[in-house]
Amino acid sequence: MVEKDRTLKAATQLVHGGVLRSPFGETSEALYLTQGYVYPTAEAAEARFKGDEPGFIYSRFSNPTVAMFEKRMALLEGAQAARGVASGMAAVTAAMMGQVKAGDHVVAAHALFGSCLYVIEELLPRFGVAATLVDGADLDRWRAAMRPETKVCFIETPTNPTLEVYDIQAIADIAHGAGATLVVDNVFATPLLQKPLQLGADCVVYSATKHIDGQGRCLGGVILASEEFIQTHIHNFLRQTGPSLSPFNAWTLLKGLETLPLRVERQMASAARLADLLAQSPKIERVYYPGRDDHPQRAIVRKQMSGGGTLIAVEVAGGKAGAFRFENALEIFLISNNLGDAKSLITHPSTTTHQRLNVEQQARMGIQPGLLRLSIGLEDVDDLADDIARALDAV
Ligand SMILES: Cc1ncc(COP(=O)(O)O)c(C=O)c1O
Repeated sequence: MVEKDRTLKAATQLVHGGVLRSPFGETSEALYLTQGYVYPTAEAAEARFKGDEPGFIYSRFSNPTVAMFEKRMALLEGAQAARGVASGMAAVTAAMMGQVKAGDHVVAAHALFGSCLYVIEELLPRFGVAATLVDGADLDRWRAAMRPETKVCFIETPTNPTLEVYDIQAIADIAHGAGATLVVDNVFATPLLQKPLQLGADCVVYSATKHIDGQGRCLGGVILASEEFIQTHIHNFLRQTGPSLSPFNAWTLLKGLETLPLRVERQMASAARLADLLAQSPKIERVYYPGRDDHPQRAIVRKQMSGGGTLIAVEVAGGKAGAFRFENALEIFLISNNLGDAKSLITHPSTTTHQRLNVEQQARMGIQPGLLRLSIGLEDVDDLADDIARALDAV
């Protein structure tokens, strides 16, 4: 069985890993659009429910197509266990809520995607879980924030949208020293370029909506960790609260995984070239790209990432007006708040994804009025370079 062999390279696992082939011998993974399952006898139903016999019970708990996606993701991540969920935010919410109770405390970097910030800053405190936000790059701040009741630390690295990079191993050590766990949102790095579990994190979450689908079709999320972590914190929370991944979306994501290495490799090569091009323009005041030598955390990038990723952030001259002129002059890049897509996308974070934050909060996260985030797609890089050059003339 291919999926049992962990020495296979990622590209091979992503095509063959986790397949549950039906008696019909289909080539492509089967899509099991079913809510429930039937049992040959009452005794068989009893044994299945008791866990004495393997098998599926109800698609809120598990489903063969979802199980294939989970197994393939676990192989890619090098995790013992994975759970597919309905969206990236379902993954973040379950990973946090599943671990805490009233009286606990969590620590997170303040540079987070807006909805993650909502879960940590607003939702958890409503249930008696205190939250402290720190500068994720400052290890002394992490150390100072730890309390006896700290249960979970949470980071996203590279961050959305300023592409700051945090030291996963160092933060995991601080969390463990205080008896807490570390959850890493690895969306920007993709499962190919950074392996948080190998760096000491306890749990990794993805919005599979991004590079894993990568073709703008469906929402999805996944939580990866040790079997013990999943059983202790996640398994029952998901079964009883029901943020289940639809089998159709799991099937789409399985197909996405087959081409993930090709897409990420190509998008990253284009991103590296376009970041250099942008850096040469007098209309661009600053470029943030983890693959460039001028990235402030370049040493950490080298230590924990195998590439600079598919996203670039830039500060355009002329603030918000300059940024809007640049966005509106682009013809191939589409204005969208999404990322990781086959189509190149551009976002103005301060008026879209991070609009909820006030000016001071935005400034603390490095979100200036002229900041734009570019997600590089699969188009010919020469066309993308021309599109950028022409639009810069309009700034
Ligand atoms: C870093 C990060 N985490 C989580 C999410 C949430 O994912 P989803 O939209 O699939 O819920 C997003 C994007 O939306 C994101 O950029």
